Amino acid sequence: MNRSVLIALAGFSVVSCSQGDGAPAPSAPTRPAPTAAEKAALLATLPAPYDQADLDNGRRVFARCRSCHTLTEGGPNMTGPNLYGVFGRTAGGKPDYNYSAAVRQAGFAWDAEHLDHWLENPRTFLKGTKMSFAGIPDAEDRRDVIAFLKVETGYTPAAQP
Ligand code: HEC
Repeated sequence: MNRSVLIALAGFSVVSCSQGDGAPAPSAPTRPAPTAAEKAALLATLPAPYDQADLDNGRRVFARCRSCHTLTEGGPNMTGPNLYGVFGRTAGGKPDYNYSAAVRQAGFAWDAEHLDHWLENPRTFLKGTKMSFAGIPDAEDRRDVIAFLKVETGYTPAAQP
């Protein structure tokens, strides 16, 4: 994360520390989970349309993913791989997860645009994937869940411009 964003985030949490989301810490995180204020500050740095996303709706949409995916740093793989750090990671690149050949050989790194196509219809985007998920037809729901993933999975603007 670049310095100016860090400073912005730090300032943000000082002025609005009473808005901390109070969520219980996940098991043994290696760094503290971002506060609600830090998430809002990060959201504002995202390129359009993601800066307009509704994170609460993103959380609700992610309920469709939770049976198969964890988000927290060091979280377990389930039916699908843990998604912490997914932005900027090569598709199929988590070393301790057994991907299908379709995902392993996809040949790109995950960004918002690839995720948008993937989540619209995983089976047509990467034929042969073992992610059995019908897809999210609504573009706003995809926008919101992608922004939600950005703020929850350790994405930093400096690392992935
Ligand atoms: C029924 C279980 C299931 C559901 C529901 C599901 N996934 Fe997946 N997901 C998988 C599996 C299995 C894979 C691995 C696919 C492969 O190897 O072909 C995967 C792979 C992925 C990947 C690629 C990860 C990587 O490391 O390359 C992303 C991103 C992803 N899922 C996001 C989501 C999101 C976001 C949702 C909800 C909108 C979702 N998934 C819903 C099972 C699921």
